[in-house]
Amino acid sequence: MEKIKVMTLFGTRPEAVKMAPLVKELEKCEVIESIVCVTAQHREMLDQVLELFKISPNYDLNIMKEKQTLTGITTRVLEGIEDVLDKEKPDIVLVHGDTTTTFAGGLAAFYKQIKVGHVEAGLRTFDKYFPFPEEMNRKLTGALADMHFSPTTASKSNLLREGVDEETIFITGNTVIDAMEHTVEENYVFENNRLNEINFEDKKIIMVTAHRRENWGEGIKNICEALKEIVEDNKDVELVYLVHLNPIVKDMVEEYLGNVERVHLLPPLDTKETHNLMNRSYMIMTDSGGLQEEAPHLGKPVLVLRDVTERPEAVEAGTVKLVGTNKKAIISEANTLIRNINEYEKMSRAINPYGDGNASKRIVENILYYFNMRENKAEDYKCE
Ligand code: UD1
Repeated sequence: MEKIKVMTLFGTRPEAVKMAPLVKELEKCEVIESIVCVTAQHREMLDQVLELFKISPNYDLNIMKEKQTLTGITTRVLEGIEDVLDKEKPDIVLVHGDTTTTFAGGLAAFYKQIKVGHVEAGLRTFDKYFPFPEEMNRKLTGALADMHFSPTTASKSNLLREGVDEETIFITGNTVIDAMEHTVEENYVFENNRLNEINFEDKKIIMVTAHRRENWGEGIKNICEALKEIVEDNKDVELVYLVHLNPIVKDMVEEYLGNVERVHLLPPLDTKETHNLMNRSYMIMTDSGGLQEEAPHLGKPVLVLRDVTERPEAVEAGTVKLVGTNKKAIISEANTLIRNINEYEKMSRAINPYGDGNASKRIVENILYYFNMRENKAEDYKCE
């Protein structure tokens, strides 16, 4: 029997985390030949994830450059992948989410008339520039895709509104929850010893990440100033800020928070360390999308340092709150959660709007269905 050739393509850390469980599931399937191609839009941050999940890519385009531009990434992905597609001729290319690798990879496959499967499809803010360029990347990838793997009912509805054929949309849950089943451990001992020295029991540890393009400049400055005031006004609070390697972000954060007491600036950690840090923290402050999905699973309140989110499910469920980047607003919302135990407890319920750990399995089953190797679609994921 001829196997279905499935090429998984990704390049940044968050894509890798969310594609890794899917690669593992594809590898398990006897009627699928799984090929992994990484663009390495991120280098170190990608390699950490590949190592953790023991994935050795068949192709590595190694495109990352210091201070790369969006045009540079797009053209290097397009050019780099052409030969790989010509050589392998996959039946379908799977891309994930909303990065420039995602869009350029989908476009390259389309140019070769190869089917495109979009994992984490249908997230929208409906604001072209927020987040930039991700909102446009996911819309454009949606336009290129033949199979749409939506994590939730809400993301499926967004696609239906855009006129996508319902037959091609599959609600699977988010694969990040699959990844967390492998990474989160009780009594975890960190590899980074600075984390083992932190007193998670007696201090309120706030985990922070912030690096989005639309927050560069004024946004990051406001966030840093607010964080400084929060930690100075609350002696029982310590901050662990995982600082992205992007030099535009890194330089600014170090300037504002480099020498502040009870602020720990750490380089990006690998996924297992990050998930376990989150699990031990009191709360999360972030402009990341992925953390908004991961934290509710662990029952950790999240203050989102953005004005809009493409992940309304956890906001509706009450574990995630949109705060924006206004300094006063950040301080006020953080102080409420730090000082008011009732408010804290209201937000710290573990919920699972984003998945049950079986998203990758559903995606593989739906690929088999699409290529006539299985009679029925996988049953849609239903939020509990
Ligand atoms: C990218 C994605 C964003 C995603 C984010 C996750 C785009 C346009 N942006 O943003 O959607 O949320 O990844 O982290 O696709 N760098 C390193 N080593 C690394 C990674 C980055 O040195 O391992 C530095 C390089 O100088 C690089 C810069 O960071 O030029 C920016 O990387 P880039 O992928 O362009 O943008 P991100 O801000 O990481």
